[in-house]
Amino acid sequence: MIRHLLSGADLDAATATQILDTAAEMATVAGREVKKLPALRGRTVVNLFYEDSTRTRISFEAAAKRLSADVINFSAKGSSVTKGESLKDTALTLQAMGADAVVVRHPASGAPHRLADWVDGSVVNAGDGTHEHPTQALLDAYTMRSRLGRLAGLSVAVVGDVLHSRVARSNVLLLSTLGAKVTLVGPPTLIPVDIAAALAPGTAVSYDLDAVLPGVDVVMMLRVQRERMGDSYFPSAREYARRYGLDGPRLRRLPDHAIVMHPGPMNRGMEITPEVADSPRSTIVEQVANGVSVRMAVLYLLLGGNNR
Ligand code: NCD
Repeated sequence: MIRHLLSGADLDAATATQILDTAAEMATVAGREVKKLPALRGRTVVNLFYEDSTRTRISFEAAAKRLSADVINFSAKGSSVTKGESLKDTALTLQAMGADAVVVRHPASGAPHRLADWVDGSVVNAGDGTHEHPTQALLDAYTMRSRLGRLAGLSVAVVGDVLHSRVARSNVLLLSTLGAKVTLVGPPTLIPVDIAAALAPGTAVSYDLDAVLPGVDVVMMLRVQRERMGDSYFPSAREYARRYGLDGPRLRRLPDHAIVMHPGPMNRGMEITPEVADSPRSTIVEQVANGVSVRMAVLYLLLGGNNR
């Protein structure tokens, strides 16, 4: 097993499949009255969040607690970070406290990679800037596999603000490793030139959502990340929704078996209408539940589970 999970590219097909299979076993714990396994008793997991988060932070906390680890939640707000403490000094503090795993979210792309040089424990990237978010890609793959029965050969459209999306990058890497075919869809201003070739050859790009929808098994909508946009990348929210929003009529263009995904948080009415978000085709709430099982599997496998 790998020591850190920093990128979708850290996972070969065998390792990714092992994580998904372990997650399926972890999911059975969620159905029990006592949702706890003793696997990580006595181990310490630190959640180090320098960026706002609802579901990812809670998900990692629930995952570590269900494995009986001791969990320390650190949020930059209210810490010495606001006094100017560097990531390195924070890392040395965590190291001194004996963290076995550090789950880190940071606005700077690459911050988890730096952290991995400074601590002895495992580092899990929970989202770094616009770069990567590998556990989100794993929970998305898990959701696709459990709904559609396989990943190899699936056609997946990833739609919207690809430019600012770490979810898109990690998904392209992981899905192509697992044999799915990804098409990135959005306005040309939000799809970086050469991204497909740089991440995974075989990834397609389209600027025409309506043309892509009838041929996909999965449509994954991305949040328009206005907090990361210094300039305007499209004329107006209305125009964006008209061209790239998933609404009722577009939902009906999908094949009957196709599913609709979104990592959350959603801009309802922008990239997705409430009718679509709340439809039976949507797996949005399931993705959140699956996130806990997948993160349990990641922490369990990275920390060596019962073998230490
Ligand atoms: C994503 C993130 O933070 O990268 N959300 C998540 O982790 N569930 C996507 C987003 O913020 O749009």
